[in-house]
Amino acid sequence: MITFSTLENISIQTVTGTFNAAFSDYFIPLQLTKEQMAIKLKSEDFAPQYSVGAFYKNNLVGIILHCYRTIDGNKCVYNGGTGVIPSQRRQHLTIAMYDFIIPKLQQNGINKVILEVIEHNIQALKSYKKTGFKQTRRLRSYQGKIKILNCSKKLDIKIIHKIDWTAIENFWSIRPSWQNDSASLQNIQENIILIGAFQHDRLIGYSVYNPTSKRLQQIAVANQFRSQGIGRALLTYIAKNYSEDIALINVDDSHNDTIEFLEKFGLQNSINLLEMELMI
Ligand SMILES: CC(C)(COP(=O)(O)OP(=O)(O)OC[C@H]1O[C@@H](n2cnc3c(N)ncnc32)[C@H](O)[C@@H]1OP(=O)(O)O)[C@@H](O)C(=O)NCCC(=O)NCCS
Repeated sequence: MITFSTLENISIQTVTGTFNAAFSDYFIPLQLTKEQMAIKLKSEDFAPQYSVGAFYKNNLVGIILHCYRTIDGNKCVYNGGTGVIPSQRRQHLTIAMYDFIIPKLQQNGINKVILEVIEHNIQALKSYKKTGFKQTRRLRSYQGKIKILNCSKKLDIKIIHKIDWTAIENFWSIRPSWQNDSASLQNIQENIILIGAFQHDRLIGYSVYNPTSKRLQQIAVANQFRSQGIGRALLTYIAKNYSEDIALINVDDSHNDTIEFLEKFGLQNSINLLEMELMI
């Protein structure tokens, strides 16, 4: 018989083992060390009291890794990973794990659950839709080698050690997904690089680059300075100083300017994610 509990008393090592077994046949290679899992959980604000474990004969065979934040006054939970080990699939365990945790979330005043799913992950999508999740946006992933393009010499591009996380939200046209949101980045400041674009000492654009994953986690240019080569200078700085290979996973499908910008640099759209939410 399968039993369920939250994950407060389960070690990161055990969670990582189950996660890796569940993701062993995933669409893209996804295997984490215990250390990488610890950084992921720290970044995303892992909440073991709101997470779920499914157990068979005392073994952890299924997980939902929930993270918790208050956003605009709403108590929200983010699903940072769902997995069922291959030998225990086809029993609708994901739905059963949600049936177990939703009353606990409601008792704690949580009214929203957010997640992202690869759009052709049929098993996951079926499980989430049956639980009641609805699509909110489509997020494109891009990857490839950055083409180095000529840049204006008038701009000063440099590493910055501190940034006003609230002020830079004024540069945004789209809100980053949970993993790339400023709260996630502030939790792992020692693992990311902040790059600023300055004109006469004024910050007019920035990017956040993660050298371990080679991911561009945020990039934005103040509205009145768009289309003047600032984004180009920021990407070129990363290509010259860190790596020409880069990936992004949260490009809003409706934001044509960003899509055109990335494609001009030679990056290719590979997989896409659906962002979904469940109101409870
Ligand atoms: C996604 C996952 C957690 C679902 O596991 P589960 O809860 O055991 O789900 P089930 O195997 O019971 O399948 C759910 C539904 O998908 C269907 N399904 C399962 N495998 C399928 C397949 N290979 N092709 C098509 N449909 C499939 C089932 O028939 C079921 O449909 P139904 O509700 O109409 O009966 C599991 O497949 C997994 O761990 N995958 C790898 C990690 C992953 O993708 N995580 C999600 C990231 S967002």
